[in-house]
Amino acid sequence: MLETRFTRLVGCTVPIQQAGMGAASRAELTAAVSNAGGLGMLGCGFGEGGPDGIALQLTQTRALTSRPVGANFVIIDGAPPIDHACLEAAASLAQLVEFFLWAAPDPGLIDLVHQLGALVSCQVGSAEEAKQAVDAGADMIAAQGYEAGGHVRSTVGLLPLLGEVLEAVDVPVVAAGGIGTARAMAAALAAGADGVRVGTRFVASVEAWVHPGYKQALIDAHAEDSVYTRTFSLGWDAPHRVLRSAVAAAEAFDGDIVGERVIWWNNTHAPLRRFAPGMPFEGTTGAVEAMALFAGESVGGVRQVQPAGDIVREMAEGAEHLLRRWT
Ligand SMILES: Cc1cc2nc3c(=O)[nH]c(=O)nc-3n(C[C@H](O)[C@H](O)[C@H](O)COP(=O)(O)O)c2cc1C
Repeated sequence: MLETRFTRLVGCTVPIQQAGMGAASRAELTAAVSNAGGLGMLGCGFGEGGPDGIALQLTQTRALTSRPVGANFVIIDGAPPIDHACLEAAASLAQLVEFFLWAAPDPGLIDLVHQLGALVSCQVGSAEEAKQAVDAGADMIAAQGYEAGGHVRSTVGLLPLLGEVLEAVDVPVVAAGGIGTARAMAAALAAGADGVRVGTRFVASVEAWVHPGYKQALIDAHAEDSVYTRTFSLGWDAPHRVLRSAVAAAEAFDGDIVGERVIWWNNTHAPLRRFAPGMPFEGTTGAVEAMALFAGESVGGVRQVQPAGDIVREMAEGAEHLLRRWT
């Protein structure tokens, strides 16, 4: 059923990769997606939690699933490099380590992951970046289009990007951005993608570690309510896609601190500054509506909070059904 180069490479049964989304995607979400046949991804961001926190979360994930899982890191030009011990922890416990590249790919990091036995994926926003990543040793690519939620690397829409990336590299390519329904998944697979990568839709899952107000805002929104902006750039100036309502609420907010977030690895609370690129995790207090409510154009496909496994099954079965109409 829907076997592709991606499912064969990573050993999952359904060509759906859940996006690693920082602390929103912790052990429960990662394991739920993998148990349903997709590839669950632990969000490790910039290495938050350190090697011990990452090892603990992956050990928790492993206790919940025996299926393949991945770990996602974000690499930014000019930021302090990710501690190698974090990568070692990830590569020794996950099947795949992924880099969201906001910098040139580092063959040394890719080699380090390979030596520990894990595969490497890179999320990129252009064919040129995809080629550089594969030349540096990446085993697969996630092509992220302009429709995507979270930080957005590409300046063009997913379909034109996907076509260029598929022509530029000869490794499995998953399509990211705006895919939250069976129809969108079928379209990406029909266009040649080896799998789809889904973010926003999984934020509205039971297992996602985000504030219920954020999940409800996604349910209430339509595709046109997602906006490409640089509003939440305090500390990291990069384009991103959020709910338009969050931009309006942050601009209208009176004060510098919008609320307080729980830090998962030491269970303390930290203030969140207005216009910081921090989403409201579970336990966040304050003006949740004025925080970075990341959402892709796929938000139109969010109708309810569902178990992540149901989302995987609904999208995969629906896409397979749609694709069969043409064969
Ligand atoms: C809440 C949220 C957080 C994200 N955080 C990350 C991240 O930490 N690393 C990463 O590679 N991509 C991250 N992304 C982007 C996703 O990898 C993916 O490209 C995007 O979600 C696809 O578009 P969609 O949201 O329409 O499904 C995030 C996306 C969202 C919605």
